[in-house]
Amino acid sequence: MTALELNHDRGRCAIDIAPGLLDDRSALADAVSGRVLIVTDRNVAAHHLPRVERALAAHRPSTLVLPPGEPSKTLASWTQALDALVDLGAQRDATIVALGGGVVGDLAGFAAASWMRGIRVVQVPTTLLAQVDAAIGGKTGVNLPAGKNLVGAFHQPARVLIDPTTLTTLDGREFRAGLAEVVKYGAIRDAAFLDRLESDAPWLLDRDADRLTAAIERAVRHKVEVVADDEREAGQRALLNFGHTFGHALETETGYTRFLHGEAVAVGMVQAARLGVLLGDLAADDADRLAGLLERLELPTRRPDDVSPAALAEHMKLDKKNQAGRIRLVLLDALGAARVRDDIDPERILEVLEQ
Ligand SMILES: NC(=O)c1ccc[n+]([C@@H]2O[C@H](COP(=O)([O-])OP(=O)(O)OC[C@H]3O[C@@H](n4cnc5c(N)ncnc54)[C@H](O)[C@@H]3O)[C@@H](O)[C@H]2O)c1
Repeated sequence: MTALELNHDRGRCAIDIAPGLLDDRSALADAVSGRVLIVTDRNVAAHHLPRVERALAAHRPSTLVLPPGEPSKTLASWTQALDALVDLGAQRDATIVALGGGVVGDLAGFAAASWMRGIRVVQVPTTLLAQVDAAIGGKTGVNLPAGKNLVGAFHQPARVLIDPTTLTTLDGREFRAGLAEVVKYGAIRDAAFLDRLESDAPWLLDRDADRLTAAIERAVRHKVEVVADDEREAGQRALLNFGHTFGHALETETGYTRFLHGEAVAVGMVQAARLGVLLGDLAADDADRLAGLLERLELPTRRPDDVSPAALAEHMKLDKKNQAGRIRLVLLDALGAARVRDDIDPERILEVLEQ
């Protein structure tokens, strides 16, 4: 088992990574205190809830099962979670166990942040995206009709338990979308990781337990390092947005239905890399290599022909990460070396979007 630690401004969070971790009853039982509320969704419950309920049986947990997907990340679900805590008689020593993807993690984390001004949350992520990203770092929240993640809080989990074998039941597209976020860490801070991902690509696609666990571990180490240096996203943490401004524009323009987040980020990372080439900062071969790796991982890397570059450029101008009317982008100087730029001529951005 790999045991990592994230030191943050209120203490530390232990992160355990091991195939079969959810079969280890004591790992879960040792992570909780007081009354326990398990929050999960229907898909995850069908495959993984019984083990978790068994491991926590001594705590007589309650379980809230939500409909799967982004529509559950609302204030209404948050109220449901708080009502479940009321029914449970939860006190300040209670624990919420978030068993699921980023939707469950963000929602359950926000319920834990707000119940009695903050109780323990244990993140048990079951999507690749949640294992390498969403479950680590303490960002929690819900969506409003006006926009995604508009309400939320920083609330670090007490513990993160990552069992890579839970990914065997994940839909193939969801799994590959998570691989895009794994590639992101290599692109912004670890060129040698990209080499490894290139050689391991076929095994990763087959969800080979050893290679997948190794990739998750390395990605989690990167997330932990970035968050420990910059918990409140004042600087370094912004680099994790590589590919995201381009990606969000594509998600928005296609109504959030055509691309999964990770798929849009894959396209966005290639566009950001090509912009680096256009600006003379990044070698064309490096951008091609990044695109090639994403293609090997069966991810999209190009804007579909029916999506207008001008419309994407407009969305990018409205991105919430922009400051003082300037588009803020994470660009590469080399594979493994990224920096935030806000001095890019919008014409050059359009040029890349048109490619
Ligand atoms: N807090 C953060 O730092 C952070 C970072 C990135 C993303 N996010 C958030 O994460 C959310 C997306 O997370 P996601 O991609 O995990 O989506 P998700 O939680 O909707 O999960 C994707 C789908 O997979 C299903 N699923 C999950 N685990 C499964 C398993 N093991 N087997 C079978 N099915 C399974 C779910 O039911 C769902 O249908 C977004 O709301 C995003 O804003 C948060």
